[in-house]
Amino acid sequence: MNKIIIAIDGYAATGKSTIAKRIAKKLNYIYIDTGAMYRAVSYFGLQQSPEGKINFTKLIASLPEIKIHFENSEKGLQTFINGENRSLQIRESRVNEVVSVVASVREIREFLVEQQRIMGNEKGIVMDGRDIGTVVFPEAECKFFLTAAPEIRAQRRHKEQLEAGNNESFEAVLANVKSRDHQDSTRVTSPLTKASDAIEVEVSHLTIEEVLQKLQYHIDKKLG
Ligand code: DC
Repeated sequence: MNKIIIAIDGYAATGKSTIAKRIAKKLNYIYIDTGAMYRAVSYFGLQQSPEGKINFTKLIASLPEIKIHFENSEKGLQTFINGENRSLQIRESRVNEVVSVVASVREIREFLVEQQRIMGNEKGIVMDGRDIGTVVFPEAECKFFLTAAPEIRAQRRHKEQLEAGNNESFEAVLANVKSRDHQDSTRVTSPLTKASDAIEVEVSHLTIEEVLQKLQYHIDKKLG
């Protein structure tokens, strides 16, 4: 059977990664979480600057030293930075606070997009992010764009954060979701927008299974 590229874009905390993982597993495709790659660069930048403020000139100069790779484990997809498992650290709130700014830097986007394209060379990939259907793989056979109300997304993020031991208030999580929406949609380089040929799915009142069914229907059509 022909392998295809499946691009899943959309707002933060719409369940993109859960959906993308499930689809990849079902099709035996590779799953790539591009948000984790922007988080990894953000984490590297924070580690580089002990005072906790990223020095972008220094970070851009160091990009060739940042090697990101993923490994599957029973705990899910693990993100490695220069050989070290940093899956937990890249989800910390200090990373949440800077990642949108990091992701708005053209040099950082170019660096990561190049790697994402190499990962998709062989097709058979499900990639989630913000610009996959528009910039990384405009030729992807299947493109989806997930949306949901900010309050519903913040509830999901808040629950995830509590489970991970992060005691941030709901209000703080909601404020972060809204500010990231704004940053992601208004940045100059590759803003978050729906590709004209992407299928938009409003997931506010759908279960994961219902979203999967919708996407699977379109994927099956493409796969014949
Ligand atoms: O999906 P996430 O919350 O882990 O993404 C983290 C940040 O990275 C988010 O602010 C948007 C940005 N991002 C991006 O600009 N382009 C991508 N392809 C993926 C994520």
